[in-house]
Amino acid sequence: MDTHNFIDRDGSTPLDHDQIIGIRFAHLTTMGELDELEDLNIQKGLEWLNRQKAENYLSMEFLCRLHEKLFGDVWKWAGKFRTVEVNISKHRPYDVGPQLKNFFEDVKLWIEGGKMSWDEISAEMHHRLVSIHPFPNGNGRTTRIYTEYVQKRNHQRVTSWKASLALDPQERRKIYIKALQQADKGNFEPLIEFMKEKKT
Ligand SMILES: Nc1ncnc2c1ncn2[C@@H]1O[C@H](COP(=O)(O)OP(=O)(O)OP(=O)(O)O)[C@@H](O)[C@H]1O
Ligand SMILES: [Mg+2]
Repeated sequence: MDTHNFIDRDGSTPLDHDQIIGIRFAHLTTMGELDELEDLNIQKGLEWLNRQKAENYLSMEFLCRLHEKLFGDVWKWAGKFRTVEVNISKHRPYDVGPQLKNFFEDVKLWIEGGKMSWDEISAEMHHRLVSIHPFPNGNGRTTRIYTEYVQKRNHQRVTSWKASLALDPQERRKIYIKALQQADKGNFEPLIEFMKEKKT
């Protein structure tokens, strides 16, 4: 199993009616089948991502393209922003674009500024992006994959999302969501800790 995909789905957004309509496969009956199709699509998307060398990877366009590559075989709305409000995000749908624009400006400043450690940048970046929650679904996976990509592009070691807990996915997910909830309150320590473990 690759490390972006958490088996346990606690804390994920349930699909709403419009999203279900957006599925490209008419004969899906179980969540397991959907997971499998998404995984295949994600593998393809990762191959695409690993070929990308573009300078403009810190941009809204790049992020949308990535989401499209990761989920476009399965979801018609892949690569497009959500149009509904979600519990996880305080941002209204019409604020997703402006919020992302600010986000990418900030990330560039954090990287160029040289004052924040990469552990801090990675955690703040990951949290802010999942909090904006740009897409109807797949925000967690896209953002974990994107966070790793940004680390790689900046010659940093890549977060393993506590791979040491891979045999206990429930616990792993619980710690991850709790850390994000702490970050919601401005305390980034638990998320930094969760993301500190790197891939070997
Ligand atoms: N309190 C929270 N604050 C910020 N982000 C959160 C919070 N709770 C959950 N999240 C993020 O939202 C993601 C779920 O959103 P979504 O369902 O769009 O993504 P996904 O890729 O389908 O989910 P999954 O992580 O289950 O694969 C979680 O993975 C997590 O990153
Ligand atoms: Mg989801």
